[in-house]
Amino acid sequence: MKVDVLLGLQWGDEGKGKIVDVLTPKYDIIARFQGGPNAGHTLEFEGIKHVLNTIPSGIFHPEVINLVGNGVVIDPLIFKGELDKLAPYNIDFKKRLYISKKAHLILPTHRLLDAASEAAKGKNKIGSTLKGIGPTYMDKTGRNGLRVGDIFSENFKEKYQALVEKHIGILAHYEGFEYDLNSLEVPWLESLETLKTLEAVDSEHFLNKALLEGKKILAEGAQGTMLDIDFGTYPFVTSSNTVTAGTCTGLGIAPTRIGNVVGIFKAYCTRVGSGPFPTELDNELGELIRKEGSEFGATTGRPRRCGWLDLVQMRYAIMINGVTELSMMKSDVLSIFNKIKVCTHYLVNGEKVSDFPFDVNDIEIIPFYEEIAGWNCDLTKLRDYKDAPQELKNYVSYLEKQLRVPINVISVGPDRTQTLSKLS
Ligand code: GDP
Ligand code: IMO
Ligand code: MG
Repeated sequence: MKVDVLLGLQWGDEGKGKIVDVLTPKYDIIARFQGGPNAGHTLEFEGIKHVLNTIPSGIFHPEVINLVGNGVVIDPLIFKGELDKLAPYNIDFKKRLYISKKAHLILPTHRLLDAASEAAKGKNKIGSTLKGIGPTYMDKTGRNGLRVGDIFSENFKEKYQALVEKHIGILAHYEGFEYDLNSLEVPWLESLETLKTLEAVDSEHFLNKALLEGKKILAEGAQGTMLDIDFGTYPFVTSSNTVTAGTCTGLGIAPTRIGNVVGIFKAYCTRVGSGPFPTELDNELGELIRKEGSEFGATTGRPRRCGWLDLVQMRYAIMINGVTELSMMKSDVLSIFNKIKVCTHYLVNGEKVSDFPFDVNDIEIIPFYEEIAGWNCDLTKLRDYKDAPQELKNYVSYLEKQLRVPINVISVGPDRTQTLSKLS
């Protein structure tokens, strides 16, 4: 058995949560491999919208196990909030939600460090979600971090206190940064008791045994390829490997065990937070997409920056991830346009550029666009790809030719049912 991977190809918020939920009936285990509560994954069905931050998006399917892998960073307080929100659904978390003992903990002081660091950067800020992601991964690679397995040890409080003292020392360097640790710390420490009620496992053993038993596993990515710490638009990125390789390190899955890689992208493109975005429409067209697509962050509520689909960026993401099939999201949002633009390459200093450039933060990039006829009609009631307007089919074929990967799923609305399969 192999592990399939589902991940975002752009700057996050592509619709990963929705497609994981749609695909979950085909799997036994859904496993998150990186990121933390900076993620906001939205699922919609039976008229209710759910946003998950740390909990994998297979949680609403009763037969399936959801696992939070070692590559994830967990804020126990946010995690408790997520569990509380799911209380009406009578989910047996003890049996259905496992957590890796090796997943790192986000402390209240990590959040303070995130806030202090962002404030000190001024106009160069990353636009972090302020959930403490960067400082927690820094402590992980700096070999100072605390892990889920540590909360069961007798001297956890001492370890915690030692790390907090270290953080307080660092915070003192941020002049004028004020905080009230006590008010953050008390509920955080209480929330550890909730975390202790869940099954903490050696998830690498758990998953590899499951593979030997013939169980089907889907790895759920967070963020997107262009936010990857190595391959994204550094330094305007998150602090984890969001790409397929992150599945191996974030779950303990060998590279030879990776199966299908499903790449999710919007029929256009968005980004939230700072950093380069070559095809951004910083004008009324972008505003129109934001309004039509309700492009506001699921975690922070911030308006997302909007622009046309960028094939230079997409080819790069497909290459890094070894994508075997694509899902195109939010096709319905483009129904407002008679003509749709797609960036096929960049012009830099008058030269044609087809590879995503290293110095994207510093150079002037002029996107070169091709124009494609739009469908200009409501797609949201479509349930069968065969009934799709010819212009949408042409758009899909055009992209498949450009990207050399099949687009097997076309999403036409936020609900589970608004999902067209090209294969059936
Ligand atoms: P994720 O982080 O990749 O899981 O994506 P988010 O949940 O942050 O953002 C995607 C947003 O688009 C959510 O509000 C979804 O409900 C919504 N969505 C997903 N697919 C579609 C679609 O095909 N059409 C429309 N209109 N909305 C969609
Ligand atoms: P999902 O999983 C979109 C962005 C932030 C910021 C940068 C660094 O919902 O797609 P961080 O808090 O990680 O230090 O922020 O990354 N970012 C996301 N943007 N979707 C996400 O997750 C994101 N997680 C982080 O806006 O620019
Ligand atoms: Mg999101």
